[in-house]
Amino acid sequence: MTVTDTAGVHNAAPLPPLAARARSTGGSPVRDILAVTARPEVINFAGGLPAPELFDAEGIAAAYRDVLAETPARALQYSTTEGEPVLRAALADRTSARGLATGPDDVLVTTGSQQGLSLLATALLEPGDTVLVESPCYLAALQAFAFAGARVVAVPGDEDGIDPGALEELVVRERPKLLYTVPTFQNPTGRTMPAARRAAVAEIAGRCGLWIVEDDPYGELRFEGGRVPWIASCDGARDRTVLLGSFSKVMAPGLRLGWLRAPAGLRRACAVAKQAADLHTPTVNQLAAARYLADRDLDAHVARVAAAYGVRRDAMLTGLTDALPAGSRWTRPEGGMFLWARLPEGYDTTALLPEVVRHDVAYVPGAPFHAGTPDRATLRLCFVTQTPDEIAEGLRRLGAGLRGAGA
Ligand SMILES: Cc1ncc(COP(=O)(O)O)c(C=O)c1O
Repeated sequence: MTVTDTAGVHNAAPLPPLAARARSTGGSPVRDILAVTARPEVINFAGGLPAPELFDAEGIAAAYRDVLAETPARALQYSTTEGEPVLRAALADRTSARGLATGPDDVLVTTGSQQGLSLLATALLEPGDTVLVESPCYLAALQAFAFAGARVVAVPGDEDGIDPGALEELVVRERPKLLYTVPTFQNPTGRTMPAARRAAVAEIAGRCGLWIVEDDPYGELRFEGGRVPWIASCDGARDRTVLLGSFSKVMAPGLRLGWLRAPAGLRRACAVAKQAADLHTPTVNQLAAARYLADRDLDAHVARVAAAYGVRRDAMLTGLTDALPAGSRWTRPEGGMFLWARLPEGYDTTALLPEVVRHDVAYVPGAPFHAGTPDRATLRLCFVTQTPDEIAEGLRRLGAGLRGAGA
């Protein structure tokens, strides 16, 4: 019904409100910071952006050219929700080669691993269900669980990841449906959970009845130390662990290609949720990725990228001593893209950020990564997007910005 007021203007009746989940779940604070730091002069340690000059643009372009030239009718057509068979087979082979026997049917191709998270939330979570997460935790996972109306509870941990004793206590007390973890080169801390702790987590999940979501977009980017087996391959957790993978950090995030390896019942439920979300992941991207895997050596490419990232990590470790106030501590990741720093007690990295950004450098404050009580003295730095010289300059600016803000 519309109402015309005395000035002859049509006053529309108020519209029904947004859904409660849309009203209660905010946008990503990282995206807001990225918007502020879009000025080209800003050295941006805030984004989680792979180094663009290391993309194999030529190899990826050749793969697209080939599939579009040779099988255009297929590449440009609708596809199945589960994914292109040739890509599913290649993903299964890569997973099996890393110690987890996998067949093509075990894999669902997703539009980035972020979609895997939202499909799992849709398939598993009722409003009010409890989800256990690491503290701190990957931000957009917190967002996906919040959107599903879940109650998110942080599991205490240390530099090796979640504490199995604390996990068991919380499982008994809170009866959660799932545990979400990034056990290798975690976002945001860069830390890796050692094998013994993975086995302990798997054992608790098996004994207490719990899904584990093991998110692994960074595991291939190791520049130091030896590979640690997936939780998904631990005895006791094989039937209850969902492994999420992604090409974003090893090929290019613009492809929006990820995958999910899950037990059959849950995988089928995720496929139905995916039908409702986007029918399927773009066919041409899937076929181009499969073609790239067949014609090129992705492992050799990843080894080059990881080596460059190792040099950049060292550049950041070197500059941090002068940049951060005395008494600060930070992680020393063996791979991945991020490190995590903690300034001395009393510092608030959210309050310090505006002055730091005025010095043309940016980080992400640590507070929003915490599901429980935020630790305001923490911050995340991405060490891979810039060259070592730019990292050194960025850290000089960070030091000046923090001192300018009275830190
Ligand atoms: C831990 C974690 N999971 C998932 C994602 C999403 O990645 P994708 O580009 O595959 O959607 C990211 C991206 O930064 C991430 O850090």
